[in-house]
Amino acid sequence: MLSAGKVPFFEPGLQDLLAKHLASGNFRASADVSEAVRASSVLFLCVGTPQRDNGEADLSQVEAVARVIARNLNGYKLVIEKSTVPVITAQWIKKTVQRYASQSQNSGSGNSDIDGNGSGTESFLNFDVASNPEFLQEGKALRDFFAPDRIVCGVETDRAREILQEIYQPLARPMVITDINTAEIIKHAANAFLATKISFINLVANICEKVGADVTQVAKGIGADPRIGASFLQAGIGFGGYCLPKDLRAFIHLGTDHGIDCSLLESVEKINKDRIDHFLCKLRSALWVLGGKKLGVLGLAFKPSTDDIREAPSLQIISRLLQDGAILHLHDPKALSNVKESLKDDRLSFSESPYEVAKKAHALLLLTEWEDYKELDWKRIRESMEVPIIVDGRNLLDPVQIRQAGFEYFSIGR
Ligand code: UGA
Repeated sequence: MLSAGKVPFFEPGLQDLLAKHLASGNFRASADVSEAVRASSVLFLCVGTPQRDNGEADLSQVEAVARVIARNLNGYKLVIEKSTVPVITAQWIKKTVQRYASQSQNSGSGNSDIDGNGSGTESFLNFDVASNPEFLQEGKALRDFFAPDRIVCGVETDRAREILQEIYQPLARPMVITDINTAEIIKHAANAFLATKISFINLVANICEKVGADVTQVAKGIGADPRIGASFLQAGIGFGGYCLPKDLRAFIHLGTDHGIDCSLLESVEKINKDRIDHFLCKLRSALWVLGGKKLGVLGLAFKPSTDDIREAPSLQIISRLLQDGAILHLHDPKALSNVKESLKDDRLSFSESPYEVAKKAHALLLLTEWEDYKELDWKRIRESMEVPIIVDGRNLLDPVQIRQAGFEYFSIGR
């Protein structure tokens, strides 16, 4: 697909960038990993690190690629770990490349000048490892890549540092150069902290609901303090996606394995899981009985500007509503076909038009804050609904305006 100029998922701007660089000849895709290794002196490892049942990261793809590198060391290579991995993975990559490279040297024409403890490899095993975690947000990935707040590089040799500095020099952004373990921790700590901010504001939202305060104003009030910062204080149905939940779990696993009390992060995770129940309670108290009612759902992706539905809170909410016997009509600007493939149930129907899902609905649920939804013709929607109720899981709409438009409106923490 890449060779044919097709990006296999939706990310704003990526399609044009791929087309541009394919045309220039500066980008080539190959399914032959060995060939790619032999043709390059700098290797970015971007393979998946899925989650095992116990929350630990599954590193088998990282190991597999390290073995291919070992068999194809035809000159100096800088092996850069880009995937999000637990600390000390780079050391394992190093050990794996050393082991398998020396093995193929021994079985071929090779030099067996390697000592048993894995050091002293430079004489013939000509490679370095480095960690260069990414902080891209889906939907804003190009902006985050070309204008990052910081570029983190974990290295253990001057040569590796110089190569990374040369690669990133055109971006002219601040670089944080550390040892490798530190760089790996920076990535996990960043995602754990972002998750903590979100769960924190969701906890505050719960308090606001009980006492009659407005969490969006609280977020504004605290976010103006630069020590706190305004971003990632949007209360809602919780964080999803392929990164925050998985990385948080892996970080807890790592800490606990080392005897560290990770109850702070366990609470962050628990608050996030409870968001689904919280939203369903809100819905039940607005609608009473859910069984047999037609509900329209606006937004399915785990966040706007992506078609990614992995760990999307919307999917959990939909499954629970189906258990309650609701009939659901779903809309999303980009993620509809992914949802069609992953959820199969006769009580689900899909529409390309938000107006269609609203027709005859007993309520509309807003689960992803796509900007387009703000601009909908709410009068038209109200007139087509069975009952004009909106339950906004992302606080996207303006409560005053939407109530003036004739809706009963429920949102989060306000
Ligand atoms: C996240 C990090 O933000 C990136 O810095 C990191 O590079 C990436 O993971 C990764 O590890 O690869 P991403 O998964 O694209 O990026 O999504 P976020 O923008 O972090 O959003 C995650 C979830 O949190 C979404 O479901 C979003 O709706 C939710 N969220 C975000 C909130 O509920 N409230 C907020 O204030 C912000």
